[in-house]
Amino acid sequence: MSTLTNRLYRLRSRPEGEVTAENLEWLEETVPELREGQALIRTHYLSVDPTNRVWMSAMRSYIPPVELDAVMRGAGVGQVVESRRDDLPVGSFVVGLTGWQDYCIADSASDDMSFTVLPDPLPAPLPAFVGVLGHTGISAYLGVEFAAPGPGETFFVSAAAGAVGSIAGQLAKRRGARVVGIAGGAEKCRYVVEEFGFDACIDRHSDDWKKQLDDATPDGIDIDFENVGGEIMDHVLSRLNFGARITLCGLVSEYNEYNGGSGPRGIRNVSQLLMQRASLRGFIVFDHVDRYGDIIGQLSQDLAGGVLHSDETVVDGLEQARQTLNRSLAGENKGKVVVKVVPS
Ligand SMILES: NC(=O)c1ccc[n+]([C@@H]2O[C@H](COP(=O)([O-])OP(=O)(O)OC[C@H]3O[C@@H](n4cnc5c(N)ncnc54)[C@H](OP(=O)(O)O)[C@@H]3O)[C@@H](O)[C@H]2O)c1
Repeated sequence: MSTLTNRLYRLRSRPEGEVTAENLEWLEETVPELREGQALIRTHYLSVDPTNRVWMSAMRSYIPPVELDAVMRGAGVGQVVESRRDDLPVGSFVVGLTGWQDYCIADSASDDMSFTVLPDPLPAPLPAFVGVLGHTGISAYLGVEFAAPGPGETFFVSAAAGAVGSIAGQLAKRRGARVVGIAGGAEKCRYVVEEFGFDACIDRHSDDWKKQLDDATPDGIDIDFENVGGEIMDHVLSRLNFGARITLCGLVSEYNEYNGGSGPRGIRNVSQLLMQRASLRGFIVFDHVDRYGDIIGQLSQDLAGGVLHSDETVVDGLEQARQTLNRSLAGENKGKVVVKVVPS
């Protein structure tokens, strides 16, 4: 009989706006005994991602919504502590969908439960594997690769101080582009320019942000790495150059309106895509799993060589996960945000 206690969140109802304690119930349950083909993973760090909010809604997405009463889905990095699976040996560190919980059972019969064993010794600290060397860094890499910025081009990135945007801007800069970002607040803008080497960053909270954006992109915008949508994207569309490319990575400004309220504002300035013969490519990082190994290798080299910089904010305690997500969606965090689940 297992005596391990699992602290976890179950999705009890779909949020309207911010995620409440009623939407996500915080519980303690006993970890069940392992069966053949299962391994028990102790979560060390949980990634808090805007897409978690999308998964809580019922909208059609790239992955089914989290079912009501199920453990909240989430990406994490952890250690195998018990195993009845040859491919997940005890002691190994793994990355995958651990869920918002202390312990996760990785069942070889479940598609949702595929885990990647990390190299031993670890080439970087554990949180990096859900950040710059995980799905966020890989998303930045792919989005930049699709848009292929070149010397002399203007590359614009929204949510520039965030996990994906901060890496995307640096990768575009290394390809010779002029990189302009937008972020919430003067301090974040300073951080984007000084820590990540952007050429300019606009404060989206300033009254004249549209004029500032125009002034910072005197030659127009050749590439938009789009993370937020809404009013910012609409204004960026009005700055597109002929033949511009848009990498549609996310629409975070809408997520809190999925499943409730009046519905998202949406993109209105679509005519500019037509007028400027622009192309827009949406992508989902999970479609490119076959490339993860190569991309992680490249990003690890860049990090080790000091030509790529990443910043992680570590929030202590699984019980902070819900509010951490709300804070991220409200623009109160910067860099990659992870929740430390395992006690020190
Ligand atoms: N396609 C994929 O496979 C893939 C993979 C990973 C992530 N993504 C997407 O990439 C985007 C960024 O993700 P991330 O992990 O970098 O997120 P993050 O670090 O949590 O950053 C999110 C940032 O978005 C900004 N934001 C929030 N609400 C906004 C609003 N109403 N208007 C403008 N900006 C707002 C805030 O920054 P400021 O306050 O500083 O503006 C916030 O800090 C998200 O849309 C996410 O869904 C997509």
